[in-house]
Amino acid sequence: MYLSFAVLSMDISSLILVGSAVYLIVQLLRFIFADADFTLLWAAKLGNKPEDKLRGQVVWITGASSGIGEELAYQLAALGARLILSARRQNELERVKRTCLEHSTLQEKDILVLPLDLLDRASHEAKTATALQHFGNGFFNSLRTELTDYPGITISTVCPGPVQSQIVHNAFTEELHKAVSNAGDQEHKMPTARCVRLILVGLANHVKEMWIAQQPFLLFYYLWQYMPTLAWYATNVLGRKRVQNFKAGLDADSAYFSKPKTKTS
Ligand SMILES: NC(=O)c1ccc[n+]([C@@H]2O[C@H](COP(=O)([O-])OP(=O)(O)OC[C@H]3O[C@@H](n4cnc5c(N)ncnc54)[C@H](OP(=O)(O)O)[C@@H]3O)[C@@H](O)[C@H]2O)c1
Repeated sequence: MYLSFAVLSMDISSLILVGSAVYLIVQLLRFIFADADFTLLWAAKLGNKPEDKLRGQVVWITGASSGIGEELAYQLAALGARLILSARRQNELERVKRTCLEHSTLQEKDILVLPLDLLDRASHEAKTATALQHFGNGFFNSLRTELTDYPGITISTVCPGPVQSQIVHNAFTEELHKAVSNAGDQEHKMPTARCVRLILVGLANHVKEMWIAQQPFLLFYYLWQYMPTLAWYATNVLGRKRVQNFKAGLDADSAYFSKPKTKTS
């Protein structure tokens, strides 16, 4: 009786031990292959679908002429969201608008091209008035909900790691106004479409902060949040290489990648 009880209790404790070890290994593997924080990935799997939540909404995209903003315009248009496209280069915005119209059911009037230099603050009021005039009360209402009396709006902060875009071409070097001479191959970075899909999932689920990055960058987000001292140490070590890259006119992140990563959905 005593003996069988001892065996049984040992079995249960070793079972718990093995179960915990398996659980930890599974979580570690999930983390290694993650390309966004767990809240966002959970929302992508089980939360609201952007298709259900963003259709018909009016979205103002600044930086819509290239990179993440451009892809955001395409995916939002495909979902049926109405768009205000802003950046400085009007011809590029017109190109993005044409592509949006070609690949969606949106009409000409559903997309407003509104050239804007964000640094020219004096122009912001007039630009906002133009946007309101075009889309009327619907857009006005969503702006109003930013007030605390209207808790229906969520301010979402998106923190992307390296993503394929024009950012390297547009980045400056040690010399003011001199662009990076050799942007190099961007294939190893997260595909823009994947980054934007995760942003849309985050918006559809009111995620307030989104970390979107492949490893090892995702690990850094977690370190910064939970182990800042260690994160500072690693940043000081790795940061030197980034600055050297910038000064040499290269993509700052180019030194950290060895193989392409191509997950897109
Ligand atoms: N790609 C990444 O790896 C990465 C990582 C972390 C954070 N981010 C952030 O994500 C955002 C989008 O970057 P991206 O990678 O998509 O870069 P990108 O391809 O260079 O796009 C930048 C966009 O911003 C517009 N823009 C630049 N200056 C502007 C100004 N003064 N007024 C209005 N629009 C302006 C550009 O258009 P015009 O030249 O026509 O104005 C362009 O449409 C940036 O805030 C970037 O810092 C990117």
